[in-house]
Amino acid sequence: MADHVKIFDTTLRDGEQSPGASMNTGEKIRLAHKLAQLKVDVIEVGFPASSPGDFEAVCAIAQEVSGPVVCGLSRTNREDVERCWEAIKEAERPRIHVFIATSDIHLKYKLRLERQEVLEQIRSGVALAASLCDDVQFSAEDASRSDPDFLCQAVATALEAGATTINIPDTVGYALPQEYGQRIAYVRKQVPAVEDAVLSVHCHDDLGLAVANTLAGLQAGARQAEVCINGIGERAGNASLEEVVMAISARSADLGLTTGINKKGIYSASRLVTMITGLPVQPNKAIVGVNAFAHEAGIHVDGVLKQPLTYEILTPEEVGIGQSSLVLGKHSGRAGLKSRIAEMGYTISDENFERLFEAFKVLADKKKEVFNEDLEALIADEILRIPHRWRLDYVSVSSGTVTVPTATVRIDDGYEVLQDFGSGVGPVDAVYAAIKKITGTNAKLLRFTVASVTGGLDAQGEVTVRLEEDEHVVLGKGADPDIMVASAKAYINGLNRLYFRKTQPAMINGRSKPEHAAAG
Ligand code: KIV
Ligand code: ZN
Repeated sequence: MADHVKIFDTTLRDGEQSPGASMNTGEKIRLAHKLAQLKVDVIEVGFPASSPGDFEAVCAIAQEVSGPVVCGLSRTNREDVERCWEAIKEAERPRIHVFIATSDIHLKYKLRLERQEVLEQIRSGVALAASLCDDVQFSAEDASRSDPDFLCQAVATALEAGATTINIPDTVGYALPQEYGQRIAYVRKQVPAVEDAVLSVHCHDDLGLAVANTLAGLQAGARQAEVCINGIGERAGNASLEEVVMAISARSADLGLTTGINKKGIYSASRLVTMITGLPVQPNKAIVGVNAFAHEAGIHVDGVLKQPLTYEILTPEEVGIGQSSLVLGKHSGRAGLKSRIAEMGYTISDENFERLFEAFKVLADKKKEVFNEDLEALIADEILRIPHRWRLDYVSVSSGTVTVPTATVRIDDGYEVLQDFGSGVGPVDAVYAAIKKITGTNAKLLRFTVASVTGGLDAQGEVTVRLEEDEHVVLGKGADPDIMVASAKAYINGLNRLYFRKTQPAMINGRSKPEHAAAG
């Protein structure tokens, strides 16, 4: 009988620490529901003491998401632990996750603490957490660069104080797989009491080894893997949920491990994370990239047609890809749209549904075939995006080989509809010049990318922009069959994010967190 590995998803906490990936409370709740449908064992929903926005989002998820354990992150100090408990205590199955660094580098330069003082903080923080909550996780931040014997002392102290899960993070993504596996084995050997707890692995991808290290840790006896959808996370990201889960599944006979993940939900969860965060998935990304199951070379195509096993170790259907059925057309009614949206796993209020239906009709008029992916892009545009300060009403562009590109744009700012025009070196530049004039903003465009939502000439284009203003960096996204419209929507979405980031940081959990509150 294969051993069960608990999947601890930290997309909402470590994942949200990806530059520009902040989510508002509504988006976090939606993603938490998706993670519950995916059947992850634990959802780390935030760091309540780090900002009012995080606190609010953690409370909301604790109150309304059932199924997985709902976990909040906390430093070892009393205020953090109590704040964390305050946020998660309504959850069906709450967990407090207490962390402190144990490497000499962190002790000397960041914490300015002696080893003994760190042990005292572990003892008091974990004991306080255990007095409030039955389920307490302790993480020794930068464990892979910590002195192995001091790490074992820290683990033993946390266990004595009541920790029920012990996490050994490779915080800076420095470990090599064999070395990391040996570290897990060393902790098990030196601290026998850890066998009564769950041992966890949490690996960052700075050297591209996060998944390999996670698997090495599991092979050495860890039974919880901390992961993020699409591998997002601080710096180069965390181990990706889909890669760890599918490696365990594809090689279960050799690894002797299983997970309880509903694998068919993986692709839609990946899409949802992309839509919410605006962080695109690279085409060649394992499991969820558009090329992950695409065969190009003649010999490969021939082989796959004869027998998929020749070049396919997994099928796209296993992870929910390829069910892109034609859904609806311009003659479809509300009932058809409603049932397809429900099948896709979305719950939408009546008011939002009406908005979506209107947008669907407009799209179906432009596009012969409307696929699930098109609907997802519409849901993202109409419902998931940040609350609107500005909304695109109209855009018209003139460009070509001999004309100076010009654009006329009309924007609804909630009070009135404003119109202006702009010119530029290209049509997108012209559209953005007009938007800047109307909104009185001056965000710097750091990046602009276009991808196609589905195949075909009438496919929707999905534009992602990265904008910077007053030291705030955000992503904006927009989709439409017309690339100029998608570009305008993406830019305005980015401006909306910047506006709310500056005026109501709690609303989008801006990363305007105090320096000391950032976790690894
Ligand atoms: O990478 C890390 O060490 C972390 C801890 C807070 C678990 O994210
Ligand atoms: Zn981390």
